[in-house]
Amino acid sequence: MMDAVRQDAREAVADLSFSQALAEGLSLTPKEIPCKFFYDAAGSALFDAICALPEYYQTRTEVALLRRNAGEIASLIGADAEIVEFGAGALRKVRILLDALSRPRGYTPIDISGSYLRDVTRRLAVDYPNLALCPVVGDFTMPLHIPKMNGAVRRAGFFPGSTIGNFRPDTAMTLLRRMREMLDGGGLLVGVDLVKDPAILHAAYNDAAGVTAAFNKNLLARANRELNAGFDLEDFAHYAPYNPKAQRIEMYLVSLKRQSVRLGGRIVEFQAGEAVHTEDSHKYTIESFREIAARAGFIPRAVWADENRQFSLHWLESR
Ligand SMILES: C[S@@+](CC[C@H](N)C(=O)[O-])C[C@H]1O[C@@H](n2cnc3c(N)ncnc32)[C@H](O)[C@@H]1O
Repeated sequence: MMDAVRQDAREAVADLSFSQALAEGLSLTPKEIPCKFFYDAAGSALFDAICALPEYYQTRTEVALLRRNAGEIASLIGADAEIVEFGAGALRKVRILLDALSRPRGYTPIDISGSYLRDVTRRLAVDYPNLALCPVVGDFTMPLHIPKMNGAVRRAGFFPGSTIGNFRPDTAMTLLRRMREMLDGGGLLVGVDLVKDPAILHAAYNDAAGVTAAFNKNLLARANRELNAGFDLEDFAHYAPYNPKAQRIEMYLVSLKRQSVRLGGRIVEFQAGEAVHTEDSHKYTIESFREIAARAGFIPRAVWADENRQFSLHWLESR
């Protein structure tokens, strides 16, 4: 049966295993690799390093918004809640919520990066010994069973980091609708990066230290590690322009020469200058995101943004 989140053949590639997705994505014209495959343990560690970069305003702005508004957010979520986090990463931001909530009953972090998720959950357990933890290694775009926590009277979703921006707006709407179903009547707190000066956006995805480039190239490094592929990382360039019409950063790996690369039992040909699309990061206005959330069946309630309108946090209610 077709999954509800699938929109077209390009996105259907994202439902496959890494080896299948790579084989299929690199046989398309133009070539592409779905961005969720960035995240193995090395990719998650690189993303963590991106979050600390001076150019990457997103993390520090979202953390400041969470800290400044934690009391209000906690009262909107309510007491005795269980938190379900989609694409949980380092589990840092949730600590701000957990510390502000009244009697949080449990926490279910969902992430595709299995060994990294297990590792950070072990560390969270040390700091929150009385919190019920239920890490789920999985793909949040697919149907997932989220076990109910004992004593929880409500469920709230947490989806920070502007991960929603990695989906095209129509797919983002379908994904939000799916999350709404998973939340069983509970609300969702979403972090959304805002449209802004393209120079600021460009710098955030083209940092001087080259960490985002290493993160992008981790797709090739991962293929070498897991699939015995023969990519030479020096023969590909990180390229991340802002597309102002589509209001998104587009990320590519560009082949610097004509080359034939071993991938499992086959050979993939690249032309000089050929680009492999690896990620989009859509930017929204507060209004355009609220519109998508409403189309997904949520009632957009509170919204918080920093004084420079760089980043926003949205509290969406299910009913
Ligand atoms: C942009 S990072 C955000 C991490 C963290 N939430 C934050 O705000 O810093 C995206 C996270 O979502 C995870 N992820 C990406 N696509 C996913 C998917 N389809 N299913 C589950 N997790 C996914 C990645 O492993 C990564 O940890």
